[in-house]
Amino acid sequence: MPYYNFDEIIDRTGTDSLKYDFAAERGRPGGLISMWVADMDFRVPEGVTAAIKNVVEHGIYGYTEAKGNYFAAVSAWFRSRFGYATEPEWLVKTPGIVYSLAAAVRAFTEKGDAVLIQQPVYYPFSEVILVNERKLISSDLVLENGRYVIDFDDFERKITQNSVKLFLLCSPHNPVGRVWTRGELTKLGEICVKHGVIVVSDEIHCDFTYSGHTHTVFASISPDFAQNSVIATAPSKTFNLAGLQISNIFIANPELRAQFRREIDRTGYSQLNTIGLAACRAAYETGGEWLDALKLHLADNLAFQREFVAERLPRLTLIDPEGTYLTWLDCRGLGLGRDELENFILNRAKLWLDGGHIFGDTGAGFERFNIACARSTLAAAMERLENAVNEI
Ligand SMILES: Cc1ncc(COP(=O)(O)O)c(C=O)c1O
Repeated sequence: MPYYNFDEIIDRTGTDSLKYDFAAERGRPGGLISMWVADMDFRVPEGVTAAIKNVVEHGIYGYTEAKGNYFAAVSAWFRSRFGYATEPEWLVKTPGIVYSLAAAVRAFTEKGDAVLIQQPVYYPFSEVILVNERKLISSDLVLENGRYVIDFDDFERKITQNSVKLFLLCSPHNPVGRVWTRGELTKLGEICVKHGVIVVSDEIHCDFTYSGHTHTVFASISPDFAQNSVIATAPSKTFNLAGLQISNIFIANPELRAQFRREIDRTGYSQLNTIGLAACRAAYETGGEWLDALKLHLADNLAFQREFVAERLPRLTLIDPEGTYLTWLDCRGLGLGRDELENFILNRAKLWLDGGHIFGDTGAGFERFNIACARSTLAAAMERLENAVNEI
């Protein structure tokens, strides 16, 4: 494997980066180490840069569509990495996963219908439900011996009691880091099929699994699940392309696909971004080795953080992630209220994290870290946290 230096510090300030250049606009003090929004501090694989350079050197950015080689690249990735076989007509290209979740909510439900999620979960899940005037129902995940699990009885009860129409599944799960097992996904899927609940599976973090954990594409479990689901994928987390706004949504069921497409049409969206299409194809065609090296770096960062918390922050507990580059730190041992904890993290530890409460009430007392950074950045952040905790 070639050497990739994920420990290089690349200055991202002055690039209009949401993570680095918007503290003042977002009401944060200066001088924070920023570990909140989920993008990475690493340059993309060289093959992606080369593909973008090609487009830029040509210098014409007219309307662009994807040819068969685009589908070939995306589908080969999912077949080889996850054993998920797709057909070209299943693919609906969209400018983002959150956009697609919102479109799915409108496509598959009516105003007032109940949509189920599993909090604590990536906060746009609740936003796309509420902003579209649907009813938010959460079957909260349960923290059991340091690991989040699903209460399947509660999950089914919430569906029947509220006549739930749609389930937004986060797989792997942000922020709790679970890589759902095939068994868990099968149980969830069977309950949904039984009660006629459509499943939208957001699999944007699928490429980030730690050793010993395997991601299962929800639709790959059975033909019934494939017919009852929308699989939302994107190269944006995997290859650090979020700003290029490309996502690939697979819908095997022609009726669901037509409903989803109609909703996209209603928003007036048609062709995707020229540079994004080129980058996505190049990433899936050429980025495999880079990703495998990156995963080793992330595993090392995780091991570092795990050890640091265990040895130097005994009042805190790291919920060990099975996947994603996001970690979920249980800070309840500090005995601080919600606002006190936020104030402590920002003004005493001088860190910009995502406060757990934004992922749902059950997230209160937790903080989410983004460890997709150089080791020295993570080490500096942990030392700040340790010093602040020692002063309480
Ligand atoms: C679970 C999940 N879904 C979607 C997104 C965002 O996707 P997009 O930028 O394509 O809307 C994120 C980003 O952090 C995420 O964690």
